Amino acid sequence: MKEVFLIKGLAGARKLVGEIPVKGAKNAALKAMASAILFSDKLVMKNVPEIEDVNRMGDLLVDLGATIEHKGNGVLEISTEEMYDGKMSDEIAKRLRASIVLTGPLLSRFGTVHFPHPGGCVIGARPIDLFLEGFKKMGATVAISGEKGKAHYVISAKGGKLRGAELFFRNQSVTGTETFMMAGVLAEGETVIKNAALEPEIEALADFLNGCGAKIHGAGTPTITITGTQKLKSKGKAYVTTPDRIEAGSFLVIAALLGKDVTITKCEPKHLESLIELLRYSGVPIKVGKNTITVKIDSKKKISLNAVDVKTHEYPGFPTDIQAPMVVYLTQAKGDSLVFETIFEGRLNYVEWLNRMGAEITMFDPHRVKISGPTKLNSKELESPDLRAGLAFVIAGIVAKGESVIHNVYNIDRGYEKVEERLQAIGVSIKRAYMADSDIV
Ligand code: EPZ
Repeated sequence: MKEVFLIKGLAGARKLVGEIPVKGAKNAALKAMASAILFSDKLVMKNVPEIEDVNRMGDLLVDLGATIEHKGNGVLEISTEEMYDGKMSDEIAKRLRASIVLTGPLLSRFGTVHFPHPGGCVIGARPIDLFLEGFKKMGATVAISGEKGKAHYVISAKGGKLRGAELFFRNQSVTGTETFMMAGVLAEGETVIKNAALEPEIEALADFLNGCGAKIHGAGTPTITITGTQKLKSKGKAYVTTPDRIEAGSFLVIAALLGKDVTITKCEPKHLESLIELLRYSGVPIKVGKNTITVKIDSKKKISLNAVDVKTHEYPGFPTDIQAPMVVYLTQAKGDSLVFETIFEGRLNYVEWLNRMGAEITMFDPHRVKISGPTKLNSKELESPDLRAGLAFVIAGIVAKGESVIHNVYNIDRGYEKVEERLQAIGVSIKRAYMADSDIV
């Protein structure tokens, strides 16, 4: 038996009403969990989403000797006092791209780290060259065994201690920035990261670590300087996970498409300026509060959604993680929209499925598509290739006419906590069901 989502679509009718709360950010929580390795005492985390990727990161840490207590209500307590070395489980690490961030704190604490080429969503090549080069610059040696794609790495710091170095990232890398920020915390001397990523989760992590004794300057700007120090002490201070801007943005796309009066709550609107700006430009009336975003449309007024061009970009530009939901939006907008995915080369692979539902999307090359709209979408059985495209399929199912079946729900559960319950609360007809393998087409 496989889990599926069954969705009765609204056939484009603007009917959704109510509030939909946003959970803590997956891509913030995973890195904060990794930072527990830098602490001599227990790390308390709040607002942690209950999702599969958090469970996997927890499994990896436990396998390394950490103790994790789930206190309920999004509270996690992680102690790494008993951790003895930096040998990651190949089995678990291969299933989680974010496992790569453990290399930084493990190497700076233990002087060696063993890990497989990280897995995760199938959205492109996902190289780790910046990591290997960075660690070499910090005085480590890198041994690689196994064939390409299945490689295993052993990295050892000379004399058991990483040394600070100046690193320039050819590509702005989110996990790269976080990894070397954490590596620098227990390294000797000063580490400088240039062309660092600017994502808000990075600054939030740096602020918390600084509150516990780290010396990180410039997080949130392109140059970050870290001065090495002793193990950190949280002394009971809790890391509070920032709201998930990708989840909030995806809910905003749903509200923009089908909301009569929908408010996204517990979010951080200032992290979503690029999306809000673009949707407003396209014709969606959006009201922003301190921690809320509302789409309210007077039923007597007919609004028109217009085509807009989208180019994904590092923060604060348009997030690649909201590209797929935005493409679904554009199938309902009037005119031709061009979408240019600049970060990952495999992130438009899902568009064929939308065409099968009735969308008119032309692919020019792996990075660029044209969406001609509006088009009516018809229900389909869909299989999500990755978690963000998975949520985009849920959105397409809600827009479409008829009952859609979304397979590979596990992919969606990796990043969104019980998303169906929250969608039901604003009037979406979606339920989790079980389907025998023989019924899956
Ligand atoms: C993070 O991935 C996120 N994952 C991704 O979210 C997100 O899509 C991505 O940042 C971009 O915002 C986590 O935070 C766990 P990158 P990351 O290193 O850090 C190239 C999701 O669905 N690059 O910033 O792995 C790379 O190929 C996910 O939650 C190198 O060339 O992405 C890409 O073109 C998926 N060499 C660019 O940099 C390297 O060594 C940016 O990737 C590393 C990266």
